[in-house]
Amino acid sequence: MTASTAQAQKPFLAALAGQRQSIPPIWLMRQAGRYLKEYREIRATARTFIDFCYTPALTVEATLQPIRRFGFDAAILFSDILVLPDALGQSVSFETGEGPRLSPIADEASFASLREEPDWTRLAPVFETVAQLSAKLPKETALIGFCGAPWTVASYMIAGHGTPDQAPARLFAYRQRELFQRIIDRLADASADYLARQVAAGAEAVQIFDSWSGVLPPEEFERWCVAPIARLVKRFRAQAPTTPIIAFPRGANTYLAKFADIDGLACIGLDTAIDPKVAASLLPTRLALQGNLDPLALIAGGRALDEGVDRVLSGFEGRAHVFNLGHGILPQTPVEHVERLMKRLRG
Ligand code: CP3
Repeated sequence: MTASTAQAQKPFLAALAGQRQSIPPIWLMRQAGRYLKEYREIRATARTFIDFCYTPALTVEATLQPIRRFGFDAAILFSDILVLPDALGQSVSFETGEGPRLSPIADEASFASLREEPDWTRLAPVFETVAQLSAKLPKETALIGFCGAPWTVASYMIAGHGTPDQAPARLFAYRQRELFQRIIDRLADASADYLARQVAAGAEAVQIFDSWSGVLPPEEFERWCVAPIARLVKRFRAQAPTTPIIAFPRGANTYLAKFADIDGLACIGLDTAIDPKVAASLLPTRLALQGNLDPLALIAGGRALDEGVDRVLSGFEGRAHVFNLGHGILPQTPVEHVERLMKRLRG
């Protein structure tokens, strides 16, 4: 399918190409997962979350579940941002209820134990998932591939687990700047190649999740969020010249303006805390905007949800807009509230 036929059939791709749609296309970050009972059922059949991520029969099904239920305009490949450190040779596991566990990178020696390039055979099930999905999705539904941004992935590689503020990685970056730069460069290049392979398998757009960009002061933000994403985008572009890229720098706030300078982005994802009108004033109109309903309004439902949806719709007026949450959907979200959201949006 040519790019223009795909856009004509898929409102999500049209919006990313800068064409405002009368009803904004919608998908939700982390739209597959624990708030769906059908996900919990198939999750229980895999021993670990990493095993789940590397089993195409399960990841294909998990990706399709929210599409079947709600008819979102885009499906996001079911996987995790931490499969990349896994493929670089760092051990990654997920403890139930506790989140990810990695053997932390502490020094030159532990960095030296990483592979120069990801083990693509280890990631083969991801590409297989993408290939199967592109054959199975409804013709109006776009397929999104993704990776974590270098800073966000590095922050887990350094700490070895989730933290409230990524202090371990921030300290590491101050104390061992040259080594940290090498980790970031390794991730930027590996991520670009990883996304390009997802596109070769059938992904029609890609999103870069920088979930932790909001914790950095200005110079650090420039050095560890903006510059590495620019490097990633440039290398990806050389392999996939036309695939639209969404960057999601969570918490970037007024530093969003710095994303205007990255050549090759199609769309910026906004978190819950930024006023879309302020974001629109910081970013040129060639960039589509995505966001930014509060995931807690979706849990609350009722008036909070209705008002939240209306506020998002009016906030993004005049711009090409993809409706989304300001961060991932939470496990306690009632499915009826997602149905209510869809109804309010589409009528
Ligand atoms: O959007 C989707 O539906 C696709 C799936 C997806 C997952 N993780 C599945 C997942 C995506 C896009 C991610 C991205 C991801 N993973 C991010 C960036 C986005 C964000 O939310 O900030 C980050 C930081 C991670 C790392 C990660 N993975 C953490 C911190 C955790 C534990 C916290 C949690 O929510 O449990 C995970 C585990 C994870 N990734 C689960 C799912 C469905 C839960 C594990 C399970 O179901 O057993």
